Amino acid sequence: MNAPDPTKAPSAAPVTVPVVRSARARGTRLAMLTAYDFPTARLLDQAGIDIVLVGDSVGNNVLGYDSTLPVTMDEMLHHVKAVARGVRRALVVADMPYLSYQTGRRDAIRNAGRFLKEAGAAAVKIEGGRRRAPLLRALVDAEIPVMGHIGLTPQSLHVMGGYKVQGKRFDEARALVEDAQALEEAGAFSLVLEGVPEPVGRKVTESIGIPTIGIGAGRYCDGQVLVFHDFAGLSQGSVPRFVRRYADLAGVIGDATRRFIEDVRSGSFPSEAETYSMPAAVGTPPRG
Ligand code: KIV
Repeated sequence: MNAPDPTKAPSAAPVTVPVVRSARARGTRLAMLTAYDFPTARLLDQAGIDIVLVGDSVGNNVLGYDSTLPVTMDEMLHHVKAVARGVRRALVVADMPYLSYQTGRRDAIRNAGRFLKEAGAAAVKIEGGRRRAPLLRALVDAEIPVMGHIGLTPQSLHVMGGYKVQGKRFDEARALVEDAQALEEAGAFSLVLEGVPEPVGRKVTESIGIPTIGIGAGRYCDGQVLVFHDFAGLSQGSVPRFVRRYADLAGVIGDATRRFIEDVRSGSFPSEAETYSMPAAVGTPPRG
């Protein structure tokens, strides 16, 4: 009998790195969302998400930074620990923050190892194409599973001159295919493909054996990822065209807050049922 496929609900079997790596062979599309805290991670896990990514997008979405660049290892460790406590089944992937791996193999292994050893992640994600391949291989050699990330890589914000769709020119598209192949060859178990035209997402996916997980990379990737705050309607202002909002949590929270303020001001909260009474034998405390 075949083993149950953990990426097909309902199943409590854990989603492991080999399970993700073999998703395409099993004909399963991977669903990944970011999470940054315990209750959110628990909800996503209970709903059956395959991969929870503790993205360095915690910087923009939770910590109030205007990019991911200021996010530190300490901040990431804090959030990865909280997420890992909430997850039973999904694969927890920790994003390596800016300058935690670009500075060399020793730093990269030490920092990536902390996510597995101290924080409870099962894998890490690093940004960059073929020039990261030797570093990625060094991490894999240290028994650290690595998810690659190419295309629009937010840690290269200033090099790209803004958050711009990548791979629009033929030579850029070809370079992305070569990047993906180099990362696969170096041992990546999957690849995030961000902000590329759909034909490029398709070509990259067809050119490698490991699964691609797209964000703004079209319909032909092996999986899709969204940032939790975009997905749940918590981010303010306009969102990129690839975002589908699955809820309006900003509306729900705003409405609940306005009703609470009204109830406090009118005196209707708390009601008698929402207060503690004294035991009858004790009676009413004396006034004054
Ligand atoms: O940090 C993040 O949220 C990410 C996703 C956009 C893939 O890297």
